Amino acid sequence: MAISVEGVHKRYGGKPALAGLDLEVKSGTVQAVLGPNGAGKTTAVRIMSTLLRHDEGVVRVAGHDVRTQAPAVRARIGLLGQHAALDEGLGGRQNLEMFGRLNHLGARRAGLRADELLDLFGLADTGRKPVKQYSGGMRRRLDLAASLITEPEVLFLDEPTTGLDPRGRAEVWSAVRSLVGGGTTVLLTTQYLEEADQLADRITLIDAGRVAAEGTADELKSLVGADRIVVVLRDEARLAQAARLLPEPAVDADSLTLSFPVEDRMAGLALTLRVLEEAGIEAVDLAVRRPTLDEVFLHLTDRTDAAEVAA
Ligand SMILES: Nc1ncnc2c1ncn2[C@@H]1O[C@H](COP(=O)(O)OP(=O)(O)O)[C@@H](O)[C@H]1O
Ligand SMILES: [Mg+2]
Repeated sequence: MAISVEGVHKRYGGKPALAGLDLEVKSGTVQAVLGPNGAGKTTAVRIMSTLLRHDEGVVRVAGHDVRTQAPAVRARIGLLGQHAALDEGLGGRQNLEMFGRLNHLGARRAGLRADELLDLFGLADTGRKPVKQYSGGMRRRLDLAASLITEPEVLFLDEPTTGLDPRGRAEVWSAVRSLVGGGTTVLLTTQYLEEADQLADRITLIDAGRVAAEGTADELKSLVGADRIVVVLRDEARLAQAARLLPEPAVDADSLTLSFPVEDRMAGLALTLRVLEEAGIEAVDLAVRRPTLDEVFLHLTDRTDAAEVAA
């Protein structure tokens, strides 16, 4: 395990921000911590990266206890935004070289590392351009590069794409993906379901400082409910007949749509095709709809007994 968090509590002036948080992240994987504003994401990242002390529980990162072995942890992690002090007047490459020197790399090593990282994040062509001319996405990628100067085992990204436009977000996603190949363990927090879905091997959904659910995106989706078969008819006159033949479908008369839950999506599709064909009912569309992560999020963060759902 690259990260192990057990029963962590953190209170700010008596008010709990983390209330028994548990989290395990395997080496070389991407873990998303997903949660609404105020869920405790930043608090958790600050504790895991030794910037903040927790009140109770045990946190180990890269094989070391964050409380008793903080310097060893710090030597093995990177944190996005830690080096937010990019020099606007300098080029991207000069900034990275400077961070390398600040992190005790020799001049030659710092230069090589800067070039490697510019390459990795698609900034090689713009390495000489002053940072003040960078787009939001380029700047965030340069931030990412800076947090990787020391080749950390574990990288923490606290809402890495917040405030970026869709293009910048896509650029950062592809930068994060290219890290994974290199074996770095990444923990990223996000409020964006799509981001967790796109990037993470596993997702921990937190709400009010504790885990509401944990699993792969698919596992989380199946928590909310079954897949649904959705069929759209051509002819309004056949709607009532189709509703009798299919297994207790929900019917939307305006859009001529019938839908019903299935355990087995392929069997559900086959059944629907057979029923329609035998009755000579024409469909204009037939699809399986999976629950979306948005539905998972709303479903789980809406309920007070969310912790039980995960159990
Ligand atoms: N420095 C602080 N002092 C007091 N309360 C804080 C502080 N930082 C965070 N909180 C509170 O702790 C809870 C969790 O905050 P945070 O970890 O920032 O959540 P997130 O990053 O998920 O939005 C919130 O209720 C927030 O108001
Ligand atoms: Mg936060």
